[in-house]
Amino acid sequence: MSAKKVNKIGVLTSGGDAPGMNAAIRAVVRTSIHHGLEVFGIMRGYNGMVDDDIFQMDSRSVANIIQRGGTILKTARSKEFFEPEGRKKAYENLKKRGIDGLVIIGGDGSFRGAQKFSNEFDIPCIGLPGTIDKDIAGSDFTIGFDTAVNTAIDAIDKIRDTMDAHDRLFLVEVMGRDAGYIALHSGIATGAENILIPESRTDIEALIYNLTEKEKRKKLVNLVVVAEGDEFGGANELGKVLKERLPQADIRVCILGHIQRGGSPSGLDRLIASHMGYHAVEALVAGRRNEMIGIVNNAVHYTPLDKAIKEKQNIGEEWMKIVKILAS
Ligand code: F6P
Repeated sequence: MSAKKVNKIGVLTSGGDAPGMNAAIRAVVRTSIHHGLEVFGIMRGYNGMVDDDIFQMDSRSVANIIQRGGTILKTARSKEFFEPEGRKKAYENLKKRGIDGLVIIGGDGSFRGAQKFSNEFDIPCIGLPGTIDKDIAGSDFTIGFDTAVNTAIDAIDKIRDTMDAHDRLFLVEVMGRDAGYIALHSGIATGAENILIPESRTDIEALIYNLTEKEKRKKLVNLVVVAEGDEFGGANELGKVLKERLPQADIRVCILGHIQRGGSPSGLDRLIASHMGYHAVEALVAGRRNEMIGIVNNAVHYTPLDKAIKEKQNIGEEWMKIVKILAS
């Protein structure tokens, strides 16, 4: 850990947006100002560093944003930054303003970029986990996850009304490219009969057996929540197979898609984003570098960026057992 003093902080959002990113930006800006530091907003993720789309922020720049979804700094997945020339250009643009510390709000891809950049140019970087997928180790929550789960719950509750009215089997696909957390949480909270996630193998024969059994017991209303990254291929793929194998069932598929990424952040997301944003600046001021700020058991938790990049959160076997028992 270096004790290099930070004077000017740059903040950016990168990768998929997540509700609560604005609350995190606000906390970073206001905590920096509290410490007498200058703070700069970098537009469109790392692209803004490469293209020199950087502007100085003050307390007023982040007024009235805590309740807004999306990100006022916009976001992108930068191809140029992953090339050495792109990172060199980015460094020059930071250097000419004297920016000597970065806060990166994003997911594992964004942290990979931060880690590389920091190693090459000796700029301390602090990451905040901003992703609806909750697919990063080192934090009980990621910014945006709670809002996305609540959005999915709201949508699935509505689907349940119409599903119940028609005695249908519904396959609802939620986001989660590599992680089943949105599916698990929204599925349990809406009483899903089955939840399919990338972390556990999908046994299609067992699913068909289970649905047939339920049909025999005259349980015709069945909800299957599928994570988009489930190895079977998502709700559309599953729908095709089930329509063939269960021709008597009245099956519908609904893909919730990007509505899960938008909307006003939940109270929890505003709170953790504010907490993490505050600690990101405190960490830079204390000379910490290349760590992700998380919250574990209600307390701030530091994870080296390279560990946060490599590790995912595990979904314990017990959860899948609970799903089975509660859905009988
Ligand atoms: O933010 C993560 C995520 O929501 C994934 O679950 C999903 O696969 C991906 O983003 C889609 O992102 P985009 O449409 O922006 O490429």
